[in-house]
Amino acid sequence: MTEIMKYEVENGIAIVTLDSPPVNALGYDVRRNIVEGVEKAASDAAADAIVIICAGRTFFAGADISEFGKPMREPDLRAVLEVIENAPKRVVAAIHGTALGGGFELALCCHHRIAVPSAKVGLPEVNLGLLPGAGGTQRLPRIIGVPAALALITSGRPIGAMEALENGAVDALASEDALRADAIAFARKLTDESTPMARVRELDGKLAEWRGKPEVFDEFRKKNAKRFRGFKAPENIIKCIEAAVALSFDEGMKRERELFVELMQSTQSAAQRYVFFAERQAAKVPDISKETPMRPVKKVGVIGAGTMGGGIAMNFLNIGLPVTLIDQTQEALERGIGVIRRNYENAAKKGRMSAGQVEACMGLITLATDYQALSDADLVIEAVFESMPVKKDVFAKIDAIAKDGAILATNTSYLDIDEIASATKRPQDVIGIHFFSPANIMPLMEVVRGEKTSLDIVNTAMQLAKKIRKTAVHARVGYGFIANRVMTVRGKQANKLALQGVSPADIDRVMYDYGFAMGPFRMFDLIGLDVIGRDSKEKTASGELVRRDRLGQKKNGGYYDYDENRNATLSPVALDVIREVAAEKGIEQVPADDDEILARLLYPVVNEGAKVLEEGIALRASDIDIACIKGYNWPIYRGGPMFWADTVGLDKIVSRLKEFEERFGEEFKPAALLVEMAFAGKRISEM
Ligand code: 3HC
Repeated sequence: MTEIMKYEVENGIAIVTLDSPPVNALGYDVRRNIVEGVEKAASDAAADAIVIICAGRTFFAGADISEFGKPMREPDLRAVLEVIENAPKRVVAAIHGTALGGGFELALCCHHRIAVPSAKVGLPEVNLGLLPGAGGTQRLPRIIGVPAALALITSGRPIGAMEALENGAVDALASEDALRADAIAFARKLTDESTPMARVRELDGKLAEWRGKPEVFDEFRKKNAKRFRGFKAPENIIKCIEAAVALSFDEGMKRERELFVELMQSTQSAAQRYVFFAERQAAKVPDISKETPMRPVKKVGVIGAGTMGGGIAMNFLNIGLPVTLIDQTQEALERGIGVIRRNYENAAKKGRMSAGQVEACMGLITLATDYQALSDADLVIEAVFESMPVKKDVFAKIDAIAKDGAILATNTSYLDIDEIASATKRPQDVIGIHFFSPANIMPLMEVVRGEKTSLDIVNTAMQLAKKIRKTAVHARVGYGFIANRVMTVRGKQANKLALQGVSPADIDRVMYDYGFAMGPFRMFDLIGLDVIGRDSKEKTASGELVRRDRLGQKKNGGYYDYDENRNATLSPVALDVIREVAAEKGIEQVPADDDEILARLLYPVVNEGAKVLEEGIALRASDIDIACIKGYNWPIYRGGPMFWADTVGLDKIVSRLKEFEERFGEEFKPAALLVEMAFAGKRISEM
């Protein structure tokens, strides 16, 4: 085993190098070794100052998240930081990669900080439902001021070394490839010039100006209310910074500790920490290894210039890959490219892109109505109308012109990919690459492996997702794959409840309060009732609303009426329509309270998730959670349907499903796997 810590002295400076791959997380061994190194240097007569530096790809990436929720072995991080801050010799943090969370807090305890230009520093704990618990909320505002600290800590956004140099979070920049030497020289110079050892805890200037001005916090809360809705961590972070302003450093640290512990014990943080690991797990496919080959993807073809095709194309343009966009007519292509340009120009208006970048992306698009234009594409993605005969026809055409080895992908949402593949002579080259609308924004990409899809293609698709900054989830073929399959159940149950006389406004409110950005009926209105009801063969309320020319938000309102500011009020017309359809179908009116609304909508999602697992469509339960979070904005602090189910209790869910089965029929029958797990007292999210 390699040593975690290396101790050297050069030019009178002790260099304590920590090396704990992959990211130098501050686990027990790392903490112990930091203390050992600093104490050794403190008593080493040959050392005038100390540099703490890391080997590998990054400075400390934070506390070791896998230790959370377990008893902490001494020394804990705070104790380590005290040793550093109280060291009798100056300590310089030498930063490369990402100094995050506890890693950045450690750097803030050092007396000086030097970083390479590419380094990033930040306090991302909020993303784990936590707050910086090792003094970050007390030290950072002392350096960068209250408004900047509020913004950085509640967003978790890391900043680059240049920005950190400007706001004082780092003191000096090193050459990109000479951090060690520059840090030694920096420590030497500070020592030779007897520069005072800076202790951040002693600074007060940036806090004093906010004393007696609570409005800075109130305004911040108000401004961000929508963004923070449902989350506990941002409020606790604000309280910590209030404490930094109002209290002494030591009292502020005490307050930070209390508010940190409160979050650490919360279900929200447990959920968000689970999601952190689940997201990384999703990238792993058991039969794919580092040795699995990949196919090069340098040119992309997208068939269908509609909203979906355009959004898909943008993902590749964004990373500089040329895209050939195909549609049946020049008008359709012009319309499609117009939408792409508008999207880019909006991004430029918001300052997310420069005008030059917009033109660079647009310049990568080639338009064509002839499939022949795809003959040199490495990857062709079909995003045409969702119909099996249409898709098969498209695939036969692609098969005729695509070069050998090209990846032939379908963006179908529900259809059988094996059947689509059968329209080609190369089913091994066919795969599902399934985006979620809007495809340029939603982070989920389902990689759907068909019966015959070759492994190198699956591998290529999984890796490609990373390049275009999507989260890939591996799925097998089955109606709706993962996210659409489990979430469709929620929409179906919402419709049923409404027909039983429960107000759509109540259903939407319960879903909103659970943490979704909007409930199903608001979502139907947004998508368009004409789109929702397109494939329905039976009479539905949505279909009837369309017959009355109510298409949703885009035309005359749908379930809701909308004023000029898009404020929604439940439409009396919609209520009439629902009553009429219910009466015609002879549906019994059964009231439901909020608790039942929640159970009727979301327990079937959990149940469907269990079936997806039973059928082997998803590799693991956490993939279902990631798919729902990234594809449907399932509130991250609930951990996704499967993690949430464990927090509710599987036995409770099973018995409620059985009750619903008795009252409303077979569709609520709990999946065998769910019953089995509940009986065994096991957690389904660990499957
Ligand atoms: N603890 C434990 N494991 C960690 C970790 C951490 N803080 N950070 C990363 N890892 C693990 C990952 O799980 C992954 O493991 P795997 O290979 O077995 O799947 C491995 O390290 C590599 O991580 P990534 O795949 O994410 O590597 P990247 O190079 O893409 O990203 C990173 C590197 C930017 C450092 C990213 O891993 C990251 O953002 N890490 C979390 C940073 C963080 O949130 N820090 C705060 C922790 S909480 C804290 O410090 C509390 C304190 O205030 C008291």
